Amino acid sequence: MKLILLGPPGAGKGTQAKRLEENYGVIQISTGDMLREEVEAKSKIGGQAKELMDAGDLVPDEMIIDLIASCIDKHECQKGFILDGFPRTTPQAVALDKMFDEKGLELDLVIEIKVDDEAMVERISGRYTCSKCGAGYHDSFQKPETEGVCDNCGGTDFSRRSDDNAETVRSRLLAYHEQTEPIISYYKKKGFLKSIDGMTAIDDVTKQLKELIG
Ligand code: AP5
Repeated sequence: MKLILLGPPGAGKGTQAKRLEENYGVIQISTGDMLREEVEAKSKIGGQAKELMDAGDLVPDEMIIDLIASCIDKHECQKGFILDGFPRTTPQAVALDKMFDEKGLELDLVIEIKVDDEAMVERISGRYTCSKCGAGYHDSFQKPETEGVCDNCGGTDFSRRSDDNAETVRSRLLAYHEQTEPIISYYKKKGFLKSIDGMTAIDDVTKQLKELIG
């Protein structure tokens, strides 16, 4: 399975990609996570990306295309993957097509998670993750069973992303509408696009996704 999840910040791409990863045995490829790892490692790429990410702007296409190209070649991606956060511009979508052609890969589906902008600010402001295993939670919508303890690994340290504040979220939403939305019609014309309602509960969104994937 080779799948692209599309949707604005907070739509639930990461949450759902992790669930599909467990259910279908494929790999989640999150460009946001890859960039945050580069920032954490204080690499050259991380240094260039940090300021842009904190401002809610996209990083340059070439930077992200190179990261994806090396990732898709890895052994663990051979069983299939879910692209979460890529492509995000028309040049990235065109580069991905070229990459698939060169590697003899075929895209199965592009799923757009449709949501309302206003609700995304609340979703993102309440998001946090376990510092030990990366499991995702939310102050209101996805609390751990025991407060302060990760359901997945028992960790008690949690962190919030530096770009998860109301002001940056608005810039990220703007970047989505201006630069990412055009690729919805790009994939529609190619016959790959399906849409689901992302404003329902997390379990229901998973159900809709599974119905589409089969
Ligand atoms: P990235 O990390 O990709 O962030 P994003 O696209 O802004 O997406 P998010 O991770 O914020 O949202 P999500 O849809 O995954 O939502 P989640 O499942 O966590 O990118 C960060 C930055 O990196 C960009 O701004 C850019 O600078 C750079 N970048 C990355 N890729 C790039 C690229 N290709 N090109 C250029 N630059 C790039 O859910 C959010 C919260 O809501 C969670 O707490 C969750 O529990 C909750 N939630 C989820 N679903 C539901 C639901 N149905 N109901 C209620 N709550 C829900």
